[in-house]
Amino acid sequence: MNSSSTPSIVTLQSHILEQQSHFPEASGTLSWVLSALSISAKVIADKVRHARLENVLGSVGSENVQGEVQQKLDVIANEVLLRTLGGREGVAIVASEENEEPVILRDNKGGDRRYCVLFDPLDGSSNLDVCGGVGTIFSILAHDRRADGAQASLLQPGVRQVAAGYVLYGSSTVFVLTLGKGVDMFVLDPGIGAYMRVEQGLRIPTQCKSYSVNEGNRKSFPTGFQRYLDWAQERDYSSRYAGAMVGDVHRILLKGGVFMYPPTRKAPNGKLRLMYEANPMSMIIEQAGGKALCAPGERVLEVRPTDIHQRTPLVLGSAEEVDHVMRHLVEPVR
Ligand code: AHG
Ligand code: MN
Ligand code: MN
Repeated sequence: MNSSSTPSIVTLQSHILEQQSHFPEASGTLSWVLSALSISAKVIADKVRHARLENVLGSVGSENVQGEVQQKLDVIANEVLLRTLGGREGVAIVASEENEEPVILRDNKGGDRRYCVLFDPLDGSSNLDVCGGVGTIFSILAHDRRADGAQASLLQPGVRQVAAGYVLYGSSTVFVLTLGKGVDMFVLDPGIGAYMRVEQGLRIPTQCKSYSVNEGNRKSFPTGFQRYLDWAQERDYSSRYAGAMVGDVHRILLKGGVFMYPPTRKAPNGKLRLMYEANPMSMIIEQAGGKALCAPGERVLEVRPTDIHQRTPLVLGSAEEVDHVMRHLVEPVR
C-alpha cells in the first residue's frame, strides 16, 4: 500500500492540537480542558468495567438534586470529573447533575480565558446493573467574567457552547466531540490507552424509519406525539430504546432516526436536563446536519436557561424524521 492511501493515525490529543492551530488566538487552555475530560473518561470507563468485580453497583441510598436515586457509580464518576477538572487552571466553574450548586474553582481575576464545564457524569446509570451502555455528557461554555456569580455565568443558551461531547461506555469506549466545526469520533484503544480518530466530519443520515421513545408513557404524551406514533407505526417504523440517552442518540447519529423525550403527566417539561443533556446532544446533532427542537420551530440551543438543572422536552435526530414529528405536533396529518 502506498503512503497516500494509508490513513494516518490520529489520536484525540493530536486532533485537538490540530484543531487548535486553526484558531490563531487560541492559547491552548481549551485543549487542556478537553484533555482533562478525556482522562476522566478513561478512568470512568475502567470503573464501569470493574463495577461488578469491585462491588460498586447499586444505589448509595440517597437522591440527587433531581430527586432521582443516585447509583454508587454516579457518585464515583462525578468525583473523577471534579478532581480531574479541578486541577486545570483553565476551568473556572463546573456544574454537574449530581451537585445542587455549581462548584466555583477559580475566581474571576487573572488575564487568561477560562471555561465553565457542565456535565452528566453518568447517563443511563440505572442500566449499570444489567451491563447496559452508559455514558458521560459534557458542555463547555466560555466563562463570563462580567457575570454576577456562578449561576449568571453558566446560564447561557446552548448556541454559545464552545464545545460539547459525550463518551459512550459500550462494547467499546467511544468519544464523540464537536468544537463547532463538525463532529468527530474516537475509539479508546485499550492496548495503548489512547483515543484513536475513526470518523471525521460525521453526518447523520437525513432519514431512517426508526424512533426512540419510552412508549410506556404514551398515554400521557401530548396528543401530537400520539398521532405521530400512530403515523409511524402505520408506516412500519422500528422502535429502539435503550433508556440511556447516550446510547440512543449515538445510534441515531450513526444510523439515523429520531429520539424523543416528550412532556408527560409526571414530567410536564420532559425528563431530560437542558444544560448538560439536551444542549450538548443538540449541538452534536446539529453539527452533524440533524435537527434538535423542544417544540415546533423552537431550537433547543436557543432556549434561554433560568436554572442549571431545568428540564426540557426534546426531539432530535435526522432532519426529515424530526420534521415528521413536528408536523404532527402542530396539526393532525393524514
Ligand atoms: P440519568 O441516568 O443521567 O439520570 O439519565 C437517564 C435519562 C436518559 O439517559 C434516558 O434517556 C432517560 O433518562 C430514560 O428515562 P425513562 O426511564 O423515563 O425512559
Ligand atoms: Mn442523564
Ligand atoms: Mn446521570
